[in-house]
Amino acid sequence: MSTVLITGASSGIGAELARAHARRGDAVVLLARRADRLQELAKEISEQGGKAWVFAADVTREGDVAAAIASLANERVGIDRVYANAGFGVAGAIQRIELADYRRQFETNVFGLLSTIYESLPALRLSRGQLVLIGSVAGHVSAPGASAYSASKFAVRALAESLRR
Ligand SMILES: NC(=O)c1ccc[n+]([C@@H]2O[C@H](COP(=O)([O-])OP(=O)(O)OC[C@H]3O[C@@H](n4cnc5c(N)ncnc54)[C@H](OP(=O)(O)O)[C@@H]3O)[C@@H](O)[C@H]2O)c1
Repeated sequence: MSTVLITGASSGIGAELARAHARRGDAVVLLARRADRLQELAKEISEQGGKAWVFAADVTREGDVAAAIASLANERVGIDRVYANAGFGVAGAIQRIELADYRRQFETNVFGLLSTIYESLPALRLSRGQLVLIGSVAGHVSAPGASAYSASKFAVRALAESLRR
């Protein structure tokens, strides 16, 4: 059994990753800002015989991911895989959005992801575990009105390619 940490586990892809891993028998560590939704998912997983921990965490707040990992380490639980999945998309043509929108896009999708990487690497080194960065097709192709999101996902792909090597 592996222990898998997922940022952005309160909905969408992150929640489905958690369900899929739980079905495989992995323990899951659920992180996002909406703790109520994480609690609901953890209840669903535990009712099906799985194991889930919940941590309210904002990836843009330094230390949140590290605090979750430290809390698990106190229970002698290591982390075998981390999904840096938390993200969102700013939509709109450049004339309609502002510099601040690009900044908040990068704050979560790029710097939040980097913070997740820095804060989970020590645990992953210990377990010789895996790091998964959730990118997007938008990290390969930039559509009109998606410059902020695409730029952030191009950055994620660049990070992933460099780190992998
Ligand atoms: N859906 C798609 O078609 C698609 C395609 C390619 C890539 N992606 C990528 O897949 C990832 C998940 O997207 P999704 O489609 O599943 O969207 P979603 O349902 O909106 O899920 C996004 C998740 O990220 C969390 N999140 C956002 N900001 C956060 C923050 N600052 N700190 C912690 N958690 C945060 C949200 O939880 P809280 O609001 O509770 O914090 C939520 O759990 C994103 O990186 C997205 O870019 C999605």
